[in-house]
Amino acid sequence: MTDLIIYYSRTNNTKLVAEGIAKKFDAKLLEVKDKQKRSGILGFVKGGYDSIREKDTEIEYEKVDLKDYDNIFIGTPVWASKPTPAILQFIKENEFSGTKCVTFATMMGSGGETTISVINNMIISQGGTVKDSFILAVKNKDIEELTNEALADLEL
Ligand SMILES: Cc1cc2nc3c(=O)[nH]c(=O)nc-3n(C[C@H](O)[C@H](O)[C@H](O)COP(=O)(O)O)c2cc1C
Repeated sequence: MTDLIIYYSRTNNTKLVAEGIAKKFDAKLLEVKDKQKRSGILGFVKGGYDSIREKDTEIEYEKVDLKDYDNIFIGTPVWASKPTPAILQFIKENEFSGTKCVTFATMMGSGGETTISVINNMIISQGGTVKDSFILAVKNKDIEELTNEALADLEL
């Protein structure tokens, strides 16, 4: 069984979840980097603006063939109740047909459902299957513990 964990993270919450999944499934980690500056207050404001509009962005990542993996986990932070531009861009640029995916999002408290539904619909419209999804509200929480709880409930 070979699994792949694809994620974007601005402040490391989603990265911690991705690393927890990789540890549990002995999977490969693939970080998607956004070439657009997303740090600082301007980065925050533009990030929210770009997410709401599902705007294209330029991304950097190691190229892989998704067909080589049994399960593909895809994780994003919630930005203004939407997925991040970087993760949407990754889905747009890659071939998902025939893949089996698990999607996840981290957030402070709201917007996870819409975020997951946007990603799931995009994967499905490209011929992929979404086997399960989970949303983690990470505010004041132990992310490792939250991740392990979510993975225990996962249906693969
Ligand atoms: C531009 C921006 C918009 C955000 N919008 C939301 C939101 O709508 N709902 C929410 O609960 N959290 C929101 N957050 C908080 C992040 O989703 C949360 O902190 C997430 O865990 C960050 O993940 P990361 O550390 O991997 O970047 C937002 C953060 C940013 C930077």
